Amino acid sequence: MKKLKVILIGAGDRGIRYTGLMKEMSDKYDIIAVAEPLENRREFIRERHSIPSDMCFEDWRPLLAMGKIADLCLICTMDRDHFAPAMKAIELGYDLMLEKPIAPTQEECTALTKAATDKGVKVVICTVLRYSDVFLTLKKLIDEGRLGKIMSINHEECVGIVHQSHSFVRGNWGNTSRSSNMLLQKSCHDIDILQWLLGKKCKKVQSFGTLSYFTRENAPEGSPERCHEGCPHGETCPFNAVKLYYDDKENGWFRGAATKHVYHTDELVERALHETLYGKCVFKCDNDVVDHQTVNMLFEDNVTVTFSMNAFNAGGRHIHIMGTEGEIRAALDSGSPITVYDYKTKCYTEYDITGTDGVVGGHGGGDEGIVATVYEYLTGDYNGTSIPEIEESHYNHSIVFAAEKSRADGTVVDFDNYFSEINK
Ligand SMILES: NC(=O)c1ccc[n+]([C@@H]2O[C@H](COP(=O)([O-])OP(=O)(O)OC[C@H]3O[C@@H](n4cnc5c(N)ncnc54)[C@H](O)[C@@H]3O)[C@@H](O)[C@H]2O)c1
Repeated sequence: MKKLKVILIGAGDRGIRYTGLMKEMSDKYDIIAVAEPLENRREFIRERHSIPSDMCFEDWRPLLAMGKIADLCLICTMDRDHFAPAMKAIELGYDLMLEKPIAPTQEECTALTKAATDKGVKVVICTVLRYSDVFLTLKKLIDEGRLGKIMSINHEECVGIVHQSHSFVRGNWGNTSRSSNMLLQKSCHDIDILQWLLGKKCKKVQSFGTLSYFTRENAPEGSPERCHEGCPHGETCPFNAVKLYYDDKENGWFRGAATKHVYHTDELVERALHETLYGKCVFKCDNDVVDHQTVNMLFEDNVTVTFSMNAFNAGGRHIHIMGTEGEIRAALDSGSPITVYDYKTKCYTEYDITGTDGVVGGHGGGDEGIVATVYEYLTGDYNGTSIPEIEESHYNHSIVFAAEKSRADGTVVDFDNYFSEINK
């Protein structure tokens, strides 16, 4: 069996996760180099994968200056740091696994897609939900014609109010200028899944959404700038940073993000609460991304699709697909089965699914799924429908940019026109 040599750029949460899964498939993957500025994360990867010290770098530039030394370049830097290393890796002829979003702007997404197709390299964007059991099952049921012709889909992404506060208020993705817009960074998965399930072209897009709750006006009376500064609401506030980050020792995800440390000691957490946004009152951060947004889409054959991304819930994804012969309901948060209702027989059929999209991540098995599938794809053994070519990812990212344009301009975007304009 051929082992794919992999270089990792960005050993944060996602980089550590994918390379951990690759280690579990050590007959398929070998991590041979890492670029990561934070010493603790770089060292963690070096030790875990027994990488020689001279193959560990503080930045992606010296690593890529070595030329093409592996089969696959895995890029897991933050949204605004995807484009430059990805373009260089493409120039070198690397196949890529690139974290979503492709890049924070339409222009960069289009330029990267063109560069990859011109060079003839494979660029797999990590829209991991495509590889989860629930969405693979939905795709199969639709493609088998179980619902007849699909007429409409309602899909909701419930971000979860505490998850919103952690990632999209205090955290990496709270401010557009540091990351990207909310729909792109959080829901490019969902828009991608909806287009993939339908297999149809998008015709029109419209979106509404605002940041309404996590703002200074909504700060409770008497709340200080930081939660540890004697907040009178500390006992009952669901966002109390001391409780979320310091007291809850089990939440490695939150503590790791706040400290940027693999080994998140109480001392490091305490420092983060004093010095970083993770200790701030959620109503007094520099966040500007929306906390709720809807997108209406019209696809070919008059298929209507509504999507809602929303912070005000416990979390989870729910989908309702309606066809001429049946309907499907499914949830990616509870492990409850997919339910298909057949109008002719008046019978319900249930399909058990594995994996949930819980707070600890994993994306319902999607993370494992993409790592296993990319191996098959790059070694020529793949005949599934999950992996998108970069052109398909670009098309679906473009729907997101068109939705953002609609939200900003208050217009309905004619997507055919929009897409042909950006490709001129
Ligand atoms: N596919 C998914 O479901 C999913 C889920 C969460 C996040 N993401 C995306 O994954 C990406 C990474 O997210 P994360 O949570 O791992 O972020 P992170 O901040 O934990 O990791 C990013 C890492 O990149 C490193 N880095 C910064 N500059 C670098 C440089 N010049 N060279 C090499 N490394 C550098 C940082 O030090 C950091 O460790 C983001 O784009 C995010 O939107 C995807």
